[in-house]
Amino acid sequence: MKEELSGDMALKFLPHFPTVLIGTGTGEESNLITAAMLHVFSIDPPMLGTGIAPERHSFELMKKHRQYTVNVPTKDQLEKILDCGKVSGRDVDKFEEFDLTKEKSKNISVPGVEEFPLIFECEVKDEFKTGDHTWFIGEIVNAKKSPDYKREDTILYWGGEFRKPGKDLQEE
Ligand SMILES: Cc1cc2nc3c(=O)[nH]c(=O)nc-3n(C[C@H](O)[C@H](O)[C@H](O)COP(=O)(O)O)c2cc1C
Repeated sequence: MKEELSGDMALKFLPHFPTVLIGTGTGEESNLITAAMLHVFSIDPPMLGTGIAPERHSFELMKKHRQYTVNVPTKDQLEKILDCGKVSGRDVDKFEEFDLTKEKSKNISVPGVEEFPLIFECEVKDEFKTGDHTWFIGEIVNAKKSPDYKREDTILYWGGEFRKPGKDLQEE
């Protein structure tokens, strides 16, 4: 017999996409927000989407510039994920405060995070409000990966826990 759950409780059992730092804003205004709401929205053209709550500073920057970077960490960078999810860019320069370096993007004006091994550059093509978040759907206009990045090294977050992806089931 299955236990009935409320929708928000049930979501805690659903594995997520990686938790990332979303870069918004340009130049001195550049900001980073920790986001667990990330999904693929199209393969052709390649599109990602991220859900940002309207009260975030990143929301204002996203509306203004309509571009963002998706910066995927390794499990050793969990502290940066926690740091950037605790404070607002309205109060601190997160690049400076958390010792992160701006990496110039090739096709957009918003920088990425040099220390993170996988970076997507996205241009917002669509947005829609869903309850307490707005999804910004971005076409991937460039992407970069460090040679030593391994998919299983990234960080997943769900139900209040940080985890790493498991083994390839077809290799066992
Ligand atoms: C693990 C984790 C995941 C988060 N995921 C999201 C998210 O997907 N969307 C969102 O709007 N806020 C999310 N947050 C909250 C923001 O990262 C946090 O409010 C941040 O301080 C906002 O920064 P800003 O005001 O500079 O944009 C998350 C926080 C943590 C710790």
